[in-house]
Amino acid sequence: CGIVGYTGVNDALPFLLGGLEKLEYRGYDSAGVYIHTDDGHDMLVKEKGRVKDLEKKVVNCKMQGHSGIAHTRWATHGQPSIENAHPHISADGRYYLVHNGVIENYKQLKADYLSDVVFKSQTDTEVAVQLVGKFADAGMDTLSAFRKMINLLNDDSSYAFLLIDAKTPGLLYTAKCKSPLLVGVSKTANVVTSDAMAVLNLTKDFIELRDGEIAVISKESVELYDAAGQRSTRQPFHLDIDPAAVDKGTYPFFMLKEIDEQAIVARNLIEHYFVNGLPQIDEKILSAIKQADRLYIVAAGTSYHAALIGRRFFEKWAGISTEAHIASEFAYDHPLISKKPFFVFISQSGETADSIQVLDFIKKEHYPSLTLANVMNSTLTREADFALPILAGPEIAVASTKAYMAQILTQVILAAALAGGHDQLQAELSRLAIDLQTVIDGQDKIKELADTYLVHADRAFYIGRAADADVTLEAALKLKEISYTLVEGFAAGELKHGTISLIEQNTPVIALISQSKTAGLTRSNLEETMARGAKAMTIVTKNLASSDDDIILPALNGEMEMFGPILEAVPIQLLAYYTSLGRKLDVDHPRNLAKSVTVQ
Ligand code: G6P
Repeated sequence: CGIVGYTGVNDALPFLLGGLEKLEYRGYDSAGVYIHTDDGHDMLVKEKGRVKDLEKKVVNCKMQGHSGIAHTRWATHGQPSIENAHPHISADGRYYLVHNGVIENYKQLKADYLSDVVFKSQTDTEVAVQLVGKFADAGMDTLSAFRKMINLLNDDSSYAFLLIDAKTPGLLYTAKCKSPLLVGVSKTANVVTSDAMAVLNLTKDFIELRDGEIAVISKESVELYDAAGQRSTRQPFHLDIDPAAVDKGTYPFFMLKEIDEQAIVARNLIEHYFVNGLPQIDEKILSAIKQADRLYIVAAGTSYHAALIGRRFFEKWAGISTEAHIASEFAYDHPLISKKPFFVFISQSGETADSIQVLDFIKKEHYPSLTLANVMNSTLTREADFALPILAGPEIAVASTKAYMAQILTQVILAAALAGGHDQLQAELSRLAIDLQTVIDGQDKIKELADTYLVHADRAFYIGRAADADVTLEAALKLKEISYTLVEGFAAGELKHGTISLIEQNTPVIALISQSKTAGLTRSNLEETMARGAKAMTIVTKNLASSDDDIILPALNGEMEMFGPILEAVPIQLLAYYTSLGRKLDVDHPRNLAKSVTVQ
């Protein structure tokens, strides 16, 4: 979910709606806004669906005022509906609250404190605002009532809250625990947001809230209170980010822009991490990893798929046994951990609850950790012992593309640094950046293939072996998440053990081939599907290709073939993009998904 709040000298509504648009990637099944108007009215408007649906609804409402809060939702408790959309209100209409996270003990709290209250929604959030209302009714001031409510939430709960008391509408009350929240400060207004990107048009200066803290914000001041209720102070930090980076420009969708940026991302990473031809990583990080007997890479979704690729480089180049794990599994069901483990977290957002859960666990065990993330200053980067940026720049489309690329490349560079350098690596990666651009420039052909093979298919399969098998997982995820095609990706040798029974006349089967040892075998498996009617497509590096292959990637000879997954990333992303486009779907906002999943 996305939160934005404003208190300042200007009109709050345009700011809040603009912020919600930028936060939509965090959830978009319903949205709502509350404004205390200049003529003293409390205006609350909520709508099911996208932020633009909310915007249509507020057009006819007189909502001029200088403070307000707004929210875009990704449903956890209660289906998407106007009633369940935030802000939620206390029974007497005094308090308005938006929330991101999950209140795990909300049923108990409801039974213990609120049995006499008639609830308007099925959400866990409404319990929070009703509690504040109840405690205020009993005579508490708003800050104490807010704190008391927070103290009642159990340890498994997570929250970012933003509250307005209609009696003092210029003040915003906010607090967070395990969910991101920033206070943006400026001369004309102070604001609250789940993500700096939403408010960059106003400010680049932010105070980061810590877990358990409460902030009381007026247009002139930000008062911080620690968990014990003591006043604390913190200087704002400045975020050096170009607001244009969060703009689509002339692109129809962010996803295409982000796919196209991948060669530039590769070049930025090379520039950042190489000095005099050698990869430079903080010596403390290298020595901490070198003391380990095993690396555990933990991540979710696309970031997990990047971990599968990175694992090969840590083993082959740095000689460290490495396992890649799905965060939501590792948190509750982990394998025997070695004597001297080192944990690497990979994340675009740095806020994925499943990964944070694992980090919490391994910190209790005193295991060392490093986070590779796109959003620095995020929970995973702050809480791990070390952090390195993957430098992809803001990624807005829900389907991750350039962050995947940057996560793989950062691991490659880290593995090379652990190995004590790799003579030609800078030149090789620079060459790879040129090759990436070549593949990106050849996208007309990929669009044609998407149109003929995939736009009208109800199912499809990706196959590959060795490193290509890892890529099939990401290829399948990309295609399924934005085109709603049923897609499976798996090791080609497994076809004959089951999945081949699903091959019918014209079922698309796409083979990824960049590894010389297994190229022939993958081709044989593809032939087997063709013999059963499959419509076969090949994505092959030039050194292993013949003229009748479909997508021919630049050659990767010898050791370079380890980079096969990096080149393959582009066509699998473009096939997904053009299939979704061909079906006239909203590429950037696939149904039911959110970019940053802050619940477990
Ligand atoms: C969500 C996003 C994915 C992402 C995953 C992990 O599911 O839709 O694109 O890969 O979360 O997120 P992270 O920010 O940790 O990489």
